[in-house]
Amino acid sequence: EWWEKERSRQTPESKAIEEAAELLRSSDLPVAFPTETVYGLGADATRSASVQGIYRAKQRPSDNPLIIHVDSLDMLDRLLNPTVKPSTGSSPGSSPGSPQTPRISIPPIYKPLIDRFWPGALTIILPNPSGSELAPEVTSKLTTFGVRMPSSPLARLLIHATDRPLAAPSANASTKPSPTTAQHVYHDLQGRIELILDGGASGVGVESTVVDGLTNPPAILRPGGIGIDELRECEGWEKVEVAYSDGTLEMKDIPRAPGMKYRHYSPKARVVLFEPTSTMKGVVKHVQKDLQDTAIGAHNIGIIRTRNWKLGLDLAPEAEVASTVKAVSAPIENLVSFPVPVQETGNPSTCTKMAYDYHLGRDATAIAHGLFSALRALDDLDVDVIYVEGVSDDEGHLSAAVMNRLRKAAGAELRV
Ligand code: TXA
Ligand code: MG
Repeated sequence: EWWEKERSRQTPESKAIEEAAELLRSSDLPVAFPTETVYGLGADATRSASVQGIYRAKQRPSDNPLIIHVDSLDMLDRLLNPTVKPSTGSSPGSSPGSPQTPRISIPPIYKPLIDRFWPGALTIILPNPSGSELAPEVTSKLTTFGVRMPSSPLARLLIHATDRPLAAPSANASTKPSPTTAQHVYHDLQGRIELILDGGASGVGVESTVVDGLTNPPAILRPGGIGIDELRECEGWEKVEVAYSDGTLEMKDIPRAPGMKYRHYSPKARVVLFEPTSTMKGVVKHVQKDLQDTAIGAHNIGIIRTRNWKLGLDLAPEAEVASTVKAVSAPIENLVSFPVPVQETGNPSTCTKMAYDYHLGRDATAIAHGLFSALRALDDLDVDVIYVEGVSDDEGHLSAAVMNRLRKAAGAELRV
């Protein structure tokens, strides 16, 4: 109702949403839109050509299924109970929706999660019903689909205006850090898509948590915006299993969320992640060794600091290299970045050294919010190596998601 009023007033916002919705209904090019987790690259989940457009624009492997976004439980109910379209020559029989056909509803295990976390950063896995309207490309070869109701009002309005469930992975080029601003999307996908709805920076900053309640015990397939402790507080989820691997766990079999096996969240620069228990002395020694090693070629470095590091200062005896310092203003909102002169090594071939020092804040919520932006900003500054201070589990419910993304970006973790 509110939307109908808004639409009839033809505000710039409502016109932009209408234009995006029209593209989603009629074009095969995906549309990028903001959600509270990260920006999504959306397509009508019921049209194959449209869904194929996502894989093409992102250059995403086709065996990696997509998450469906709905604006309401009503829309999800319609997905679970598809009405078979009348086709010529079909034999008369029990038609769905008739009294004999029981309606399919969401498995009760999900009820406490939906009550508490929807709309929000939680994706649940459901069986794909027979006669499903979902394009087969959405689920790749799985018999299930992942779905969430985003809390971003702009995302929900767009789904509502389109009047279709939207398939939407993160709107980055495959393997790159997920986008949390419209500018990130533009950087990765310009020329490949027609429209980006700009809703400002995503609040959460990491993707949704993916859970599977169809198995016993239920499992977390991807850590994300909802924490494991929060899930465990819900009835039936006390014993939820961790079924993802981020390099620290022995996995018995292949990851159950197909997307988790791919290279991910990687900036151009090499990422070096230090375990939170690392000592400051060990870190400084390690970084200084890298700076002296011509094979590593660490001319410019980035530092992502969260709690304890005072790395910039330790690396910068002011007198040494004042001449190499140039002023660089913080390239992104809400992040403190400043160049730090780095001690000269005496090797003339590794002359200009610059360190960019980002402080993301102390708790995992702030770190999650700024993490992908910081990785991208350091890439824009052409650093060779990014050193990151890891966060421990007690830094808040987003720490598992933060460390998971960082381990994927770094490939390994160092304790020094
Ligand atoms: O926060 C988010 O979830 C973002 C925003 C845009 O909503 N979307 C997102 O989608 O991260 P995507 O496609 O980048 O991630 C999908 C993840 C992958 O790890 C995929 O393997 C898993 O969800 N997934 C999707 N459908 C699945 C299914 N039926 N069974 C198991 N895992 C599934
Ligand atoms: Mg992604």
